[in-house]
Amino acid sequence: MTSIRAFRGEILSVARDPRDDPAAVRHEADGLLVVDDGIVIARGAYADLAARFGQVPTEALAGLIVPGFVDAHVHYPQMDHIASHGEQLLDWLERHIFPAEQAFAERAHADEVADAFLRELLRNGTTSALVFPTVHANSVDALFEAALARGMRIISGKVLMDLGPDGLADTPDSGRTETAELIARWHGRGRLGYAVTPRFALTSSDEQLRDAGALLAAHPEVLLHTHLAENVAECAAVAERFPEAQDYLDAYDRFGLVGARSVFAHGVHLSDRSCARLAQSGAGIAICPSSNLFLGSGFFNFGQADAHGFRTGLGSDIGAGTSFSMLHTAGLAYQAALARGDPVDPFRALYLATAGSAALLHIADRVGSLEVGAEADFAVLDCAATPLLARRTAGASLAERLFALQILGDDRAISRTYVMGDCAWDKAAGRGSLAV
Ligand code: GUN
Ligand code: ZN
Repeated sequence: MTSIRAFRGEILSVARDPRDDPAAVRHEADGLLVVDDGIVIARGAYADLAARFGQVPTEALAGLIVPGFVDAHVHYPQMDHIASHGEQLLDWLERHIFPAEQAFAERAHADEVADAFLRELLRNGTTSALVFPTVHANSVDALFEAALARGMRIISGKVLMDLGPDGLADTPDSGRTETAELIARWHGRGRLGYAVTPRFALTSSDEQLRDAGALLAAHPEVLLHTHLAENVAECAAVAERFPEAQDYLDAYDRFGLVGARSVFAHGVHLSDRSCARLAQSGAGIAICPSSNLFLGSGFFNFGQADAHGFRTGLGSDIGAGTSFSMLHTAGLAYQAALARGDPVDPFRALYLATAGSAALLHIADRVGSLEVGAEADFAVLDCAATPLLARRTAGASLAERLFALQILGDDRAISRTYVMGDCAWDKAAGRGSLAV
């Protein structure tokens, strides 16, 4: 019993989409989470579990314990270029992002940013993420080494972009070889996973897109991660480049890139045909509301997505996104959905930021729900993190408190973050025991 520890407090999780299954909302007002070697071995009302686990060393946590957030789409090399003013997607990439990513050719720079990035995830209660690095294999090694040291569940893969600008382009040959080497080096090591990552349809040749499909066929255990139908000018350029494709998704499909393990960021401008194809293939969309607002890309169509029933999760999309906080991202998902007439309920928004994103990334059996057998990654939310939050949530129902956290909350509302049952961020102390 020596490695067993318990956490007592208010616990909330949403393991399935509450639109389909209202019983998916699981809440213990005075709960106990029992963890053995990083794995949840019991969870329930304290009163029900006290007799069995009363002798286990128990930490009382003030606040709302929720599963660690899962960021389904984020770019670590862009964190220092968040809030770059003035352009929509294609011009923003040229002016701000491509020059910034060139610096990741240098390993020391990648190491420094990867470290700062993982700290920022943890400060925001995010314990798992699907991450874009840069075209440089170095940038993948830097991120995975830092994530391995922290024991975090991170999925990433070298960006393929043989049509990228000078200084940021690989070749079909180097892209193929380096991807295969990186899969062998990293996939399945610790809690790490690999994603074959063509940047988007416009930055890879047909040959490289074909290679990406062949890599997926040879490694069915990895993910496919790319961007899809984010911006109107981007969609027009894709239609011009691939005149034979029925739509943007079909351009990927023709190279074998659409399957159950495919994660597409954005999907703001989707045809009904591509929505049906997403649903039929099991692929899904990482919805990135703060990014879509920041770059003027538009509002994700929740009504259309629900009508077709494809997988969805939430992504911060730093650095086009404007916050690492998945609370803030969930609040903007609500606002984006409402702009098209479909309000998202706060439990559903929590689902999207946790188990929904985890399902999209095929890690829902490990994280996102805090069910027995899962990994004990969780965040502790403070409903009184700011004077306004405290006033708004005083005497409020659970749904009201959760919604207030999503609309008013951000990193300030994360009092603790735990990774495999170890405290990785403690706001009061300004650090976590896992800080390395
Ligand atoms: N499409 C291709 N590259 C990018 C990127 O870095 N960010 C966003 N938001 N969209 C992209
Ligand atoms: Zn992106």
